[in-house]
Amino acid sequence: MELPFIGKVALVTGAASGIGRASALAFAREGAKVVVADVNVAGGEETVALCRAANTDAIFVRCDVSQSNEVEQLIAQAVDTFGRIDFAHNNAGIEGVQATLVDYPEEVWDRVIDINLKGVWLCMKYEIRQMLQQGGGAIVNTSSVAGLSGSRGVLAYVASKHGIVGITKAAALEYARSGIRVNAICPGTIHTAMIDRFTQGDPEVLAQFAESEPIGRLGSPEEVANSVVWLCSEKASFITGATLPVDGGRLA
Ligand code: NAI
Repeated sequence: MELPFIGKVALVTGAASGIGRASALAFAREGAKVVVADVNVAGGEETVALCRAANTDAIFVRCDVSQSNEVEQLIAQAVDTFGRIDFAHNNAGIEGVQATLVDYPEEVWDRVIDINLKGVWLCMKYEIRQMLQQGGGAIVNTSSVAGLSGSRGVLAYVASKHGIVGITKAAALEYARSGIRVNAICPGTIHTAMIDRFTQGDPEVLAQFAESEPIGRLGSPEEVANSVVWLCSEKASFITGATLPVDGGRLA
């Protein structure tokens, strides 16, 4: 049976670890060629090796998504190498620090908004320019349950993730008639390096996190990646501007 994404090209940011790596691999397993983008060179190269082991072509491009010139270069390199971009998963993100609103450090606010929110806008800007030339494409942005509800102590993160929901909807409306679908996923607590940093690797805190989830456990990066691939596939051809919780029931 022919794989559904043979001949397609997928670009994933933040693909050196966690959800982004799982997404890159999921695209690879469906037959897509993959562009792996991240600031983490070693992790990015490892993701490329994993994609190639899944029998597809992949390249790594070092890119800080908060830098306009680097994002422009990323898209140019992707198109130079593979000729097009069918799917983009804009996923790079950082958690910032834990602090109350009155104590939240301004420089951390700026960094979180620059990477998480401006980064998604910049990626969409250059991806959509390319997709318009090709006549279509599908984009998935990684928001969070913190993009649909509040959360104490992570002010900039909440702001950035709500912002992603907003620009996803705006982009979906602007390009709905150009064959470009734009959706957001809102993961709950997914066991990645980000959660290990957040819980400082404490197994008891991790167990509490798992226990507090309606489904009784944390999500896996692969469970999130499956939803990304599905949203990009023809099976989701009438879905645009949507925000899909992948959260084990957290927002139910
Ligand atoms: P992670 O820390 O494993 O992966 C994030 C990746 O983004 C890393 O490879 C990192 O090097 C990269 N990155 C950071 N700054 C970058 C920049 N300026 N330019 C390019 N790449 C950069 O964490 P995880 O959990 O896989 O996070 C992926 C996305 O999922 C993030 O946007 C995060 O906010 C989101 N998310 C994660 C949840 C979780 O529970 N793990 C829940 C909801 C959303």
